[in-house]
Amino acid sequence: MSNKLDFFKTFVKDKDVASIVPTSLRCVKKVCTNIDFTEDITLVEYGPGNGVFSEYILEQMSPGSRLILIEANEDFALMLKKNIQDPRAEIHNILAGDVESILNPDDIGNVDYVLSGIPFSFLKKDRKKIVLEATKRILKQGGKFLAYQTSGHLKKPVKEVFGNLETDFEPLNIPPYLIYKVVKNGV
Ligand SMILES: C[S@@+](CC[C@H](N)C(=O)[O-])C[C@H]1O[C@@H](n2cnc3c(N)ncnc32)[C@H](O)[C@@H]1O
Repeated sequence: MSNKLDFFKTFVKDKDVASIVPTSLRCVKKVCTNIDFTEDITLVEYGPGNGVFSEYILEQMSPGSRLILIEANEDFALMLKKNIQDPRAEIHNILAGDVESILNPDDIGNVDYVLSGIPFSFLKKDRKKIVLEATKRILKQGGKFLAYQTSGHLKKPVKEVFGNLETDFEPLNIPPYLIYKVVKNGV
């Protein structure tokens, strides 16, 4: 409950938080069925908020996997640094579009998954493209971009950058989410 209250307080202070409560565990699990936890993976998460996906992912991930969290809100970033004491995780208080600035050069083009909860609908068209293109550059061939959004507004820009898209829907979450599933094929 206090998690939900802290989340709501952060939402009141920062419109970019975009949701009044964290994503439900049901929705977290549904999105994460697209991740192969039997392998060692590098997963970058944009907009972890209070860490509802991050905690689930760390429970599922192998000891050799890595989780790189990119959170724009300073309060959430501090909360994550305090609550996540796991050597496989690192937390950065930056914007998703600047992800390449914190990755090791060796990681660029070798990331297995990018998971995103950021409200792309709040970004201007050119900024959306900057984030999607940086995401494509950091993913390996065959790597997946997974995003949960409140509507289909991201379909066109995703298809323009990645050339493919599958969607799923989670109606019972607050808010209901459209789940975007994209594979990096080609440069
Ligand atoms: C809808 S909330 C999702 C929070 C959490 N992942 C969840 O599922 O409950 C959106 C999150 O994205 C963060 N955010 C918004 N714009 C961002 C950006 N450009 N880069 C990184 N994080 C961003 C917000 O601070 C917030 O934590």
